[in-house]
Amino acid sequence: MRNKIIAVDGPAASGKEKISKYISKKWKLKHLDSGILYRRLALIFLNEKIDIKNLNNINKKISEIATISYQNSKKLRTQEVSKLASEIAIYNTVRLYINRLQHDFVKKNKNYQGFVIDGRDIGSVVFKKADLKLYIHVKPEIRAKRRYKQLIDSGEKSIYPKILKDIKLRDNRDKLRKHSPLVIPKDAYLIDNNGTFLETTMQIDKLILNKYL
Ligand code: CDP
Repeated sequence: MRNKIIAVDGPAASGKEKISKYISKKWKLKHLDSGILYRRLALIFLNEKIDIKNLNNINKKISEIATISYQNSKKLRTQEVSKLASEIAIYNTVRLYINRLQHDFVKKNKNYQGFVIDGRDIGSVVFKKADLKLYIHVKPEIRAKRRYKQLIDSGEKSIYPKILKDIKLRDNRDKLRKHSPLVIPKDAYLIDNNGTFLETTMQIDKLILNKYL
């Protein structure tokens, strides 16, 4: 594999991050989680108490930030940041800005043999020419159960029905927004992640082996 891009898209809490980390390690590809960029930007708006209902405020702030860290952090995973990240993701200016950061990341890391990038619009918009596109499917109830456990394990207070409601709300926002809505790209492979992780990785490894070996 050389300079390959594997796009991993799917709805909230569908396991894109865990799957992408697995692919990154197994196939020696650099991982980029585009959700981190939306979350980092949301955290900046939150800390600076910027009213995100006003598009001028958003544009002004974005023009002041040259770049954003690609690193994950526990403070990006709170329910408050998750909600705000999903709210700012509807704006085209935010999406264009974060799309540029993703292309910069790939350019800066040209020495890697390839990339696995996860998000909502990687295969459909950001890297339309990705070599392999995966779309992760998991029922909302299973996603909510997994996210609930993740939050409890990390010491956050959490209520299952609220998580389920938030996930459905974010699904709707992701699917119904005007700019880069969450869609299954025509040329994507549907990955069933309702079962065990091993069942999921077996589907993926088979696809990668068929494609590259
Ligand atoms: O981990 P989870 O699926 O809950 O969220 P994430 O991937 O960290 O993304 C946080 C939010 O950013 C999501 O709710 C999306 O609305 C938005 N997002 C997006 O619109 N496009 C992307 N490529 C990645 C994230």
